[in-house]
Amino acid sequence: MYHTITEDAIVDLVDRFCGKIRNDHVLGPIFAQAIGADWKPHLAKMNAFWSSVLLASGTYKGNPMVAHLQLPRLTQHHFERWLYLWHETAAGLCSDNVASLFVRKAQMIGERLLHAISNYHESSEATGAAREAI
Ligand code: HEM
Repeated sequence: MYHTITEDAIVDLVDRFCGKIRNDHVLGPIFAQAIGADWKPHLAKMNAFWSSVLLASGTYKGNPMVAHLQLPRLTQHHFERWLYLWHETAAGLCSDNVASLFVRKAQMIGERLLHAISNYHESSEATGAAREAI
């Protein structure tokens, strides 16, 4: 049980969470399509991401927005499932306070990602429709 956010807590949480995602009927196929069978690079990115967000480690160099815009269009349903599994994993591993820090941060980031995804796909659909109308 983790009572503070540490690198060890993040590695453990990300590892268990990704194990669930991998076998999940909703999210698993999207990941399989995007990253194939080798989860090691994804785990490393997620660890770096969370330690940069919550421990200010500065180890994450990617762009989550771009990564998610390049996937087949993700919906609220995907995000709810993602957050449900994240919550379930954090609650099983961490004290209530620490679990709620992990969950609240993920909810905030998830909202921003979903908002950007909706805008992006709606504006590209609008551009497509305008092009067809010409
Ligand atoms: C709060 C919600 C989420 C957070 C914080 C999050 C975070 C991240 C991060 C940090 C990466 C690595 C990006 C990079 O540097 O390449 C990533 C990649 C990815 N995420 Fe998410 N994600 C979220 C929701 C979702 C959802 C709902 C899905 C749906 C399946 C998803 C699918 C993926 C996939 C497939 C990749 C791999 C993309 C690639 O490397 O090609 N994510 N995510």
